[in-house]
Amino acid sequence: MPYQTLEDIPLTGRNVFIRADLNVPMDGKTILDPTRIETSLPTIRYCIDQGARIIIGTHLGRPQGKPSSELSLEPIGLYLSNVLEREILLTESPSSDGTQKIISGLHDGQIALLENLRFDPGETSNDKSFAQKLASYASVYIGDAFGTAHRAHASITGMIPFVKDYGAGYLMDKEISFLSKLLHQQERPYIAVIGGSQIETKIAVLESLFTQVDTVLIGGLMGNVFLYAMGHKISLPRPNPSSLALARSCIRKAKACRVTLCLPEDIVVTPSIDESTGMIKTCDELPYDGYGLDIGPQTIKTYQKYISEASTIFWNGPMGMFEKKSFSQGTYAIANAIAQNSRALSVVGGGESASAIANAKLTDQISHVSTGGGAAIEFLEGKSLVGINALSH
Ligand code: 3PG
Repeated sequence: MPYQTLEDIPLTGRNVFIRADLNVPMDGKTILDPTRIETSLPTIRYCIDQGARIIIGTHLGRPQGKPSSELSLEPIGLYLSNVLEREILLTESPSSDGTQKIISGLHDGQIALLENLRFDPGETSNDKSFAQKLASYASVYIGDAFGTAHRAHASITGMIPFVKDYGAGYLMDKEISFLSKLLHQQERPYIAVIGGSQIETKIAVLESLFTQVDTVLIGGLMGNVFLYAMGHKISLPRPNPSSLALARSCIRKAKACRVTLCLPEDIVVTPSIDESTGMIKTCDELPYDGYGLDIGPQTIKTYQKYISEASTIFWNGPMGMFEKKSFSQGTYAIANAIAQNSRALSVVGGGESASAIANAKLTDQISHVSTGGGAAIEFLEGKSLVGINALSH
């Protein structure tokens, strides 16, 4: 993937459009986890130091082409302004006359933040005139939105043919380099730890991981579905028939690929979702007519051993309902085990596992925490991402 990076392109005194992915989790106007903003700062700071006139574009949420005050970038502008210690000029809708005026008045090193790009329906429909409008603001385009690189949207692919110079930002380049190592240069043993709840969205990556990894450790709701498929039934929430069929086909595929597929040996169960503590049941004690909310101590021990012996580790998805303290042990035990294995190349992807790593203050002990959810998964399935292709010559 030959693409230019920031340092290949002259930036001083030029209008530089940085497409970042500042789509952070919010509670009203409060930013719950600023990781995506923080990881975008190296590119922004470099452009400031170079004396570029900076226009930052991002989406927040899915406003369906209509402005909405809940999804305004105001809190993100404030956050940027605090960490960069400078004024951030938040524009009105991305293509309004007011926006044009702000951008025309930018000085070297000044920053305009375009209001949520998805307030305009042309963003997600990749409308040509919207893309041209965005491109008219800058002569340089820097793609740094790895988390959105799987979307053929106006600011991700559409505007690139209309700018003079384009290349990848630091975050985009870092993501591509770490995830490529997982795909092409894994040292063995390579293990994947897969949890979370959405078996449907993870099945393709799981199946493609089977052709690369030695061992897959399964947990979270996903683990319950696999256990159910093996006849060890946790009845709530009841897995739907299509998830069960997917789990069964995964079990067959793992066997065919000679991959060791580890399922929980014990789980923490509760009769109702509102309980604050659970009981431990081994798989031999199932079926259980209730919820499975975490992996149990014996499973943790087994998974820790695999992790300590691995040379390459990929983790996506929590081992349980880790937002509740009593059901967070499995997830944090996995996070600690990965962080303690300093020998392994470790990559964590997906918002929830990345949050667990951040909450446990372990980010510095992981080789790379990916900011991509769906994008990282598609990359690891071996698919080429439109937003990366568009940056390549
Ligand atoms: C993400 O959060 O995965 C990216 O920002 C992409 O968001 P989207 O799934 O709404 O396109």
